[in-house]
Amino acid sequence: MAESPAEDAVLKYLLNHEEIPNSEEFAISQNIDHNELLNVIKSLNGFGFIEAKDIKKEFWVLTEEGDKYATTASPEVQVFEAVPVEGIRQDQLEGKLDKQVFSIGKNFALKNRWLSLSKEGGVPFYKRTVERVEDAIKAQLLAVKDGKDIQNPDALKKRTLIKRQTWKGFAIRKGANYAPQRSKPATDLTRDLLQNYEEMPTNNFVESSFWNFDTLFQPQQHPARDSHDTFFLKVPEVTQSLPENYLEHVKTIHEVGGHESIGYGYDWKREEAEKNLLRTHTTAVSSRMLYALAQGKFSPKKYFSIDRVFRNEAVDRTHLAEFHQIEGLICDRGLTLGDLMGVLNEFFQRLGMKKLRFKPAYNPYTEPSMEIFSYFDMFNKWVEVGNSGMIRPEVLRPMGMPKDVSVIAWGLSLERPTMILYGIDNIRDLFGHKVDLKMIESNPICRLGRQV
Ligand code: PHE
Repeated sequence: MAESPAEDAVLKYLLNHEEIPNSEEFAISQNIDHNELLNVIKSLNGFGFIEAKDIKKEFWVLTEEGDKYATTASPEVQVFEAVPVEGIRQDQLEGKLDKQVFSIGKNFALKNRWLSLSKEGGVPFYKRTVERVEDAIKAQLLAVKDGKDIQNPDALKKRTLIKRQTWKGFAIRKGANYAPQRSKPATDLTRDLLQNYEEMPTNNFVESSFWNFDTLFQPQQHPARDSHDTFFLKVPEVTQSLPENYLEHVKTIHEVGGHESIGYGYDWKREEAEKNLLRTHTTAVSSRMLYALAQGKFSPKKYFSIDRVFRNEAVDRTHLAEFHQIEGLICDRGLTLGDLMGVLNEFFQRLGMKKLRFKPAYNPYTEPSMEIFSYFDMFNKWVEVGNSGMIRPEVLRPMGMPKDVSVIAWGLSLERPTMILYGIDNIRDLFGHKVDLKMIESNPICRLGRQV
């Protein structure tokens, strides 16, 4: 079923017409509200049913002052009319008129040689020099009011009687996914959908700061970029090459923003981006994948990876300086936070975590961001099991990703849920040189969320 009469009208019309050249005219002809139509256009465009192109029109409108003179008369005519045939003293003339009308009108009336100014008995005195005048200014203002073109708009603009206004709308054609009617997209997650993921190539542990941080809109002063948190490489200290064109876009988004962002407003340094490190998250690889995806014609994708990451932090019973991350991404047009929550529910459910809660969080590269908590009966408490969000436009747009593409993403440690689900209380028993080899020999292959 169609979503709305406006949507129905657009899709039906495009069935036998090449184009809707102007959304506003279309709205009038179809008797629908233009604002409602604009919403429909954005949604249909987002799902590729139509291709909408911005169109802009500029035209003149009256200012408040211009509108006043359009209904009364121009100031110069008002002044002229206030001067009687026998002439008048300035103070008397002033008394008959609005202050602004007098001060503007007398100058134009004198300049037009409609009036003369002399001294009579030592005081300024105005006399008419013509019998009648025509109010050309008022005529032009009325023309503008009627939406007509006028000869010399600049003169009226200079007098702030008219101003420029822009109108925005759309020209519409069929899109790649055009259909005369849209059925709701299938957003329910199926087993097939989940299995249909591409694995990301996570085989490089060494990464540049550029991919690990900068492309992810992580400012260069961010504390995570300090050697207390991140292992930087001594040899080779810097990366050999970076994609130059993209680098410029990344620099710009950090420094001044763009794509409706205001950026961070600092001097972005290439040397900082060049520093090599041991990747702190697999999101560095996600960033590379998204960049690659954005270089071609967009098609929806699902990516996953499970691989090692490194963090320079204190080692204890539950933390190591290296561990594994599971990461997932879905890229498509029109995805929402609701889709992310649905996917996370399905995903964690299959790992054996059925009771979930989402808590607003912060990542430089996602907005909104949510931490994922799962309730564990055996601990009687909520435990954080992952982090997620919708990738920010500040990450996607500099890559060249189409504006209507959203990416939902999440990441979690492999070790933490494994320890909980398998009752391991020291991470060293699970990973690292202290692992009991017997445990490896005697255990079946570890599968998260033992299916019972
Ligand atoms: N990179 C995040 C982390 O290190 C996880 C994450 C991935 C968050 C993708 C949001 C989106 O914890």
